[in-house]
Amino acid sequence: MRWPKGLDGLCYGGDYNPEQWPEEVWHEDVALMREAGVNLVTLGVFSWARLEPSPGRHTFGWLDRVLDLLHENGVRADLATPTASPPPWFGLAHPDALPVSADGTRLTHGSRDTYCVCAPSYTEACVRVTRALAERYRDHPALAMWHVHNEYGTGCHCDHVARAFRAWLRARHGTLEALNDAWTTAFWSQNYADWDEIAPPRATQYLPNPSHVLDFRRFLSQAMLGHYRAQKAVLRELTPDVPVTTNFVFGGWVPVNHWEWADEVDLVAIDHYPEGLEEAAEQTAFAADLARGWAGGRPWLLMEQAAGVVYTGPRMRAKRPGEITLHSLQHVARGSRGAMFFQWRASRGGAELWHGGMVPHAGPDSRVFREIRDLGRLLPELAEVGEDPPAPASPAGAGSEAGSRVVADVAVLWDPECWWAVESPGFPSSEVRYLDAVRQAHRMLWRGGVTADFARPGDDLPAYRMVLVPGLYLVSDATARALSAYVERGGTLVVSFFSGIADEHARVRLGGYPGAFRDLLGVRVDEFLPLAGPVPIRFEDDGAEASGTVWSERVEPRGAEVLARYAGGDLDRLPAVTEHTHGAGRAFYVSTHLDDDAYGRILRRAGLPAAVAPPGVELVRRRGAAGREWLFALNHTTEEHEVTANGTDVLTGASVEGTLRLRPRGFAVLRAGSQGG
Ligand code: GLA
Repeated sequence: MRWPKGLDGLCYGGDYNPEQWPEEVWHEDVALMREAGVNLVTLGVFSWARLEPSPGRHTFGWLDRVLDLLHENGVRADLATPTASPPPWFGLAHPDALPVSADGTRLTHGSRDTYCVCAPSYTEACVRVTRALAERYRDHPALAMWHVHNEYGTGCHCDHVARAFRAWLRARHGTLEALNDAWTTAFWSQNYADWDEIAPPRATQYLPNPSHVLDFRRFLSQAMLGHYRAQKAVLRELTPDVPVTTNFVFGGWVPVNHWEWADEVDLVAIDHYPEGLEEAAEQTAFAADLARGWAGGRPWLLMEQAAGVVYTGPRMRAKRPGEITLHSLQHVARGSRGAMFFQWRASRGGAELWHGGMVPHAGPDSRVFREIRDLGRLLPELAEVGEDPPAPASPAGAGSEAGSRVVADVAVLWDPECWWAVESPGFPSSEVRYLDAVRQAHRMLWRGGVTADFARPGDDLPAYRMVLVPGLYLVSDATARALSAYVERGGTLVVSFFSGIADEHARVRLGGYPGAFRDLLGVRVDEFLPLAGPVPIRFEDDGAEASGTVWSERVEPRGAEVLARYAGGDLDRLPAVTEHTHGAGRAFYVSTHLDDDAYGRILRRAGLPAAVAPPGVELVRRRGAAGREWLFALNHTTEEHEVTANGTDVLTGASVEGTLRLRPRGFAVLRAGSQGG
């Protein structure tokens, strides 16, 4: 982890796009930034056309003035390479570098992200503009960090991609025999006799080959990473002391494996836009925990969030008073060293004119700007949380970087490749959704007041007392061994249905489901029965009833104890939930989609403590050096709540002994420990 140069404490600011505004507005901008306590802006992320209006002709004068102005006003720059938005001339000069969709349509300029990362002319143009920027600003005192590109995620199916895909496949599989075997091309006569016969998975007549599609998504992730690396190499060469990052975006359409990318950035940075306001708090916790996982437990940065509105389906929703602050504090509590937004000033035109800004259309005389300003005054008070070094033996792993560590002793496994694979067409149920399964696991912990880490399959998991494994469809032998070893050493695992099914090539593990986990879970399944409606489940200990939906299966215990059975339907009286002792630990298996209450019951049986805070109140602990600890208490509800806590309120200096009172949508950060005060 490397921190933006010249910045201490927490980062506060957002995407700044001065090219959209006349120069006099820039002066108002910096004055308002000072008022709001902004110390970092992402600059120039979509300004290629202003920087290079025709091929090779650079116009840096305006950016010189912006950078000088920012510097004079104490704002540092996360200077972006503008490569996510090539100018109109680029596509006209290089039509072969415009992306081709799966159905063969070549897209044209008119939006953003209209390029192919495998087109040599695009990479050359990107490297050229990156070099020009870095040569120009390498010594500028405002330069704090490089922000390469924006939200990598755009795929393409053109012939450049086909060539690069083949080269990638050769490196991955070695021989055509191995590839044919891995992809099971014997089915439907897909056997490849020459590498040149292989194309990207373009639109085809009926179901595509899932192994082909999966390898393509893996390839795209690495092709984009190659594009990032090409820019990073230039920036490292010219500015070795300036950290380099890119902003990760998360979604089913994003073919990026962020576990792999996290190794290539100096600071993990994410953008987060909750899908709805009702679930915004739990989704924010989810995204923040995921970012911390990618960062290996080290500090990371929330690079973008919405200031005023959230896009939700057919209409946008305004964040309610206090939510900008609460969501920002959630990120900080869970490891972000700052809170940044898209964008500083809401645009008056262009594609995203209705996206909120820190300065909305109404200007600074607005509720949103007042909350932004108050948040900017608040964050410096919390700087100690980011600066205190971590305790040497915190569960997330020790490190020498500044920044206390979030305390978490439960983990959820996260694997984007499972997400990609599980949602293939032609699978047993289109209602089995990986993200839903992982969200439910995380939600149960969040609602129970338990802070969770996300872990990468195959990781050693010694620090966790419980690990949840939702929908881990693809499992390599190494991952299966790691999970088994974790349980043998005394860990508790809760595995949910459609896990352990396939190997890393998406081929079914034979001999009974859940293939890779049969011995670990002490069960064998010979048949899946996806459900059209709910089926009753009865718990063995007290006869309580619940229901399963989406999925069921014929489970035969092979050493496992039955905790709940199906009570009706084709599987009447057969096991629905089991528990198996394996070595010194226990492994639970949930063979259907349980509602939250029933799933929570299984988690409590597995050792999850009862909730310590009222619903909607979030408690997160961070541990620093010498016994120092901070408690973030965030009340997402519109009622007042009390929680049990002790310490000194970092914001007011008040001493809290036993009872902490939280106002509606209120919050507190308490410091405790031997050096507190
Ligand atoms: C993303 C992008 C921004 C902007 C926002 C809002 O996070 O990085 O450029 O488009 O979404 O939609």
